[in-house]
Amino acid sequence: MKKELLERLNRMKVEALAGGGESRIRQQHEKGKLTARERIDLLLDPHSFEEIGMLVTHRNTDFDMQNALYPGDGVITGYGLIHGRLVYVFAQDFTVFGGSLSETHARKICVLMDMALQNKAPMIGLNDSGGARIQEGVDSLAGYAEVFYRNTLASGVIPQISAILGPCAGGAVYSPAITDFILMTDHTSYMFVTGPNVVKTVTNESVTSESLGGALSHAGKSGVSHLTAANDMECLEMIKKLLFYLPSHHEAPSPQYPFDLGDEYRPALDGVLPESNHLPYDIKTVIREVVDRDSFFEIHELFAQNVVVGFATLAGKSIGIVANQPQVLAGVLDVNASRKAARFVRFCDSFNIPLIVLVDVPGFLPGTDQEWNGIIVHGAKLLYAFSEATVPRLTVIVRKAYGGAYDVMNSKHIGADFSFAWPGAEIAVMGARGASEIIFKKEIESAADPVAKVLEKEKEYAETFLHPYRAAARGYVDEVILPSETRRKLIKALASLSKKAVARPSKKHGNIPL
Ligand code: HXC
Repeated sequence: MKKELLERLNRMKVEALAGGGESRIRQQHEKGKLTARERIDLLLDPHSFEEIGMLVTHRNTDFDMQNALYPGDGVITGYGLIHGRLVYVFAQDFTVFGGSLSETHARKICVLMDMALQNKAPMIGLNDSGGARIQEGVDSLAGYAEVFYRNTLASGVIPQISAILGPCAGGAVYSPAITDFILMTDHTSYMFVTGPNVVKTVTNESVTSESLGGALSHAGKSGVSHLTAANDMECLEMIKKLLFYLPSHHEAPSPQYPFDLGDEYRPALDGVLPESNHLPYDIKTVIREVVDRDSFFEIHELFAQNVVVGFATLAGKSIGIVANQPQVLAGVLDVNASRKAARFVRFCDSFNIPLIVLVDVPGFLPGTDQEWNGIIVHGAKLLYAFSEATVPRLTVIVRKAYGGAYDVMNSKHIGADFSFAWPGAEIAVMGARGASEIIFKKEIESAADPVAKVLEKEKEYAETFLHPYRAAARGYVDEVILPSETRRKLIKALASLSKKAVARPSKKHGNIPL
């Protein structure tokens, strides 16, 4: 081989590896951010990354752009391994044109997405971009649309994960929004459709980028982001952790890791509920006792905290958990909790991840705010999501299961494979006080001592319904179990469902109440 040929290749590679140059890399570090290449190195198993399209440059000649060519064109694309499994990854390079998306930058991402789909491996996007490459006009918009289109085609086929590690504004937010999970870094990332300046002009609101679209706003207020990291390194670790629970594609079973079964009895659970059923407790204590030690990975932790969702393993099998949280708003279902849980249920069902549902729900949240914001349609999302799910589905009624929320929270009637109840479970249309005041209204009003009558009728209603045995007698609950037996029962039930196959009516796709 001629020496000049090797030198030429070497020169070009060195140029590509330099990105936007030393000073821009320094600026990136000064902002507390890693470069695109550093991120990929930290994310993937050592030495596993293979780059595709390192020497691609843009084709724009407007605004003298032919004189501003950077190999790679602001995005590094390729494949590698995480936990030894194939993944495809792109990382936008903010040091090149602010990571902005040109026609060729978009093409590189699209080529990768096509490969990820064809080879059925997860797609990970590390976003850090000033948005559409302004010098390219509509070519850049076209590029975005091609990415959005592929995000949609890949949805439900391969897991798609988006990390937001810098700016993400305008229509650019819609690619991450279509993917399955969004992670954001605190104080170094933001997402919004229109920035603070436009907001000021249009609505006269003064707001900072951080407040409008920073990590905490999207984690807690909008629910757009699912996980929040303190910095790039933590974010990349979170992606790896998330992937641990996910299969590579929709035809693969949920991961099963080696696990030695021992004594699965958990006596601590017998004492977890407070004496009074009006008192709160932390459902996460129950979750942690039921699943494998230290395996619970909560998703959407800061959003709609009245419902808890997350991944875990049960006897080494990856599962999804949905649980009402009595510690927040008494665990009621409201608009946001319904949306949060419904999306999680659909993700798990798309990727064959069995669902375990812990129920302690007093009902749906009443009020004009909820009704006018569409609790009917949002609650229906959760009902729909559970009803259409064909993965193994196990329910444990821990305490309250009232009204429509009883039906919605993975009841047997909508397809749960097993429903267990703890001995203190209350399964009824409503609480004893409310129920007796309605159905015994006349009797109470005409009683010599109405207060005593209410108490008498309340007791009568409670004895009739506020226990799990009426539901057990009907077969709506398969078994009333001791809390300490829960883990053992769930492990056995899940194992019995390992070959579950369900046929659904043929259709193009359902019409979930969006
Ligand atoms: C081309 C861009 C760019 C862009 C930044 N740069 N954004 N180049 N197109 N969209 C370049 C800058 O010119 C600069 O180049 C370098 O990237 C770094 O930018 P700075 O402004 O110096 O960095 P910083 O101060 O950190 O500010 C980052 C920023 C800002 C907030 C992202 O650059 C900015 O506001 N950019 C424009 C954002 C925007 O309006 N994008 C279009 C959104 S609409 P040099 O050579 O000086 O280093 C959109 C529509 C998508 O994206 C629609 C899809 C359907």
